[in-house]
Amino acid sequence: MKMTVIGTGYLGATHAACMAYLGHEVLGVDSEIGKVEALNGSRAPFFEPGLDPLLHRHLGETLNFSDSYNEAANFANVHFLCVGTPQQDGNFSADISQLRDAVSKLVPLLRGHHTIIGKSTVPVGTAAELQKLADALCVPGSAIDIAWNPEFVREGFAVADTVRPSRIVVGQRPGSQAANIVREIYTTPLDSGMPFIVTDLATAELAKGASNAFLGTKISFANAMAEVCEAAGADVVQLTEIMGYDDRIGYKYLGSGLGFGGGCLPKDVRGFIARAGELGANDAYAFLREVDSINTRRRERMVTMITKMMGGTVLGGKIAILGCAFKPDTDDVRDSPALDVAGQLLMKGARVTLYDPQAMANARRAYPALSFAHSAEEAVAGADLVVYATDWGEFHHLKPHALRDLVSTPIIIDGRNALDPWEWLSAGWTYKAMGRNF
Ligand SMILES: NC(=O)c1ccc[n+]([C@@H]2O[C@H](COP(=O)([O-])OP(=O)(O)OC[C@H]3O[C@@H](n4cnc5c(N)ncnc54)[C@H](O)[C@@H]3O)[C@@H](O)[C@H]2O)c1
Repeated sequence: MKMTVIGTGYLGATHAACMAYLGHEVLGVDSEIGKVEALNGSRAPFFEPGLDPLLHRHLGETLNFSDSYNEAANFANVHFLCVGTPQQDGNFSADISQLRDAVSKLVPLLRGHHTIIGKSTVPVGTAAELQKLADALCVPGSAIDIAWNPEFVREGFAVADTVRPSRIVVGQRPGSQAANIVREIYTTPLDSGMPFIVTDLATAELAKGASNAFLGTKISFANAMAEVCEAAGADVVQLTEIMGYDDRIGYKYLGSGLGFGGGCLPKDVRGFIARAGELGANDAYAFLREVDSINTRRRERMVTMITKMMGGTVLGGKIAILGCAFKPDTDDVRDSPALDVAGQLLMKGARVTLYDPQAMANARRAYPALSFAHSAEEAVAGADLVVYATDWGEFHHLKPHALRDLVSTPIIIDGRNALDPWEWLSAGWTYKAMGRNF
């Protein structure tokens, strides 16, 4: 099938490449020419495991990228919308202006019947609003059908998640053929028994927000338990492990530490709260405000903990932070807890040096005043305190004994409750973690 993918950021570039992998002819369209050039040069403008080989394999054949809406309009009758929906400045709501812009540019150029399938995460009601916009801009004799196919991929696993999604959801208007189109697109994964759910637009839009709100709730629950453990002198890692053995609870997303970040979870939780409020359902979602504030509090608590460990002030102290990305296996630093903590420490007069296997270029762009090292060893050299902020696989090979000789004072704060405390303690480190009694 021929299709376009409008917006080729983390979601869209991966979606475009995976659609080509599934056997389709794909044109990716982005308004940022630099991104288009990078992608046409077989280079993803971000780090996503497995994406570069896919680009390499299909580029110039069944996969191309362009910044031209004219080309998109003439290329296909099916268009995926994957543009960004960031949090608005100054409030919790999602900013859907990129979607309005994409529809406004595409629809007047379309001739005949076209299906626009939104994948971006949106406030409920967005598809209906965009349908009205499309109807108003559509040339006489043409027809545009807007459907929603929310995307559940996880950065770091986006290729596998796109090719083998956990479920495929299509929200459509009564009488729409969009679900049949999506079914045809995903024939290969559907043949292996993938759940396929056809629903109305509002349910499809809510499906993604509700899923992310639940995941955020689970993480914040674990972090609330960490606060209780600190007060009670208990151990949150053992507590959540014990809870997780119950398969009604499960251990996934029950990790305590610095909390969640990234370009999706925090803004999706907030967007959900904001939209619920607009719809008058704010009582039902009041607890989600607490989910968000527990999460934000983790970063402040980490700064407080660091300050305490450094004798009451970080001024002039040298702090090494291992990790910049909001989680491992991505270079995404949007709303990264690691960088947030680094920024707060910098403002308080600390000398902060970071190292991350993939995210330093993005981190440097976001916080040019921070210092960056070429390795974990270089970052910790001469440090008064080390913060373990992102649980990269590369860091699992760090040797506490060897690092002990590089630092000025051997204090490590494990912001992810991911290190083996005994290994660090026996190597002569002071080991601290949130919600643990070390
Ligand atoms: N990142 C993820 O893993 C992920 C997962 C599931 C859902 N989502 C959702 O997908 C959407 C996109 O997220 P992202 O992380 O890829 O964002 P992103 O900022 O990386 O990508 C958005 C892209 O859209 C482009 N763009 C903006 N306006 C445009 C326009 N009018 N025409 C063409 N291109 C335009 C931008 O240049 C950018 O490349 C968001 O709604 C997000 O919540 C993301």
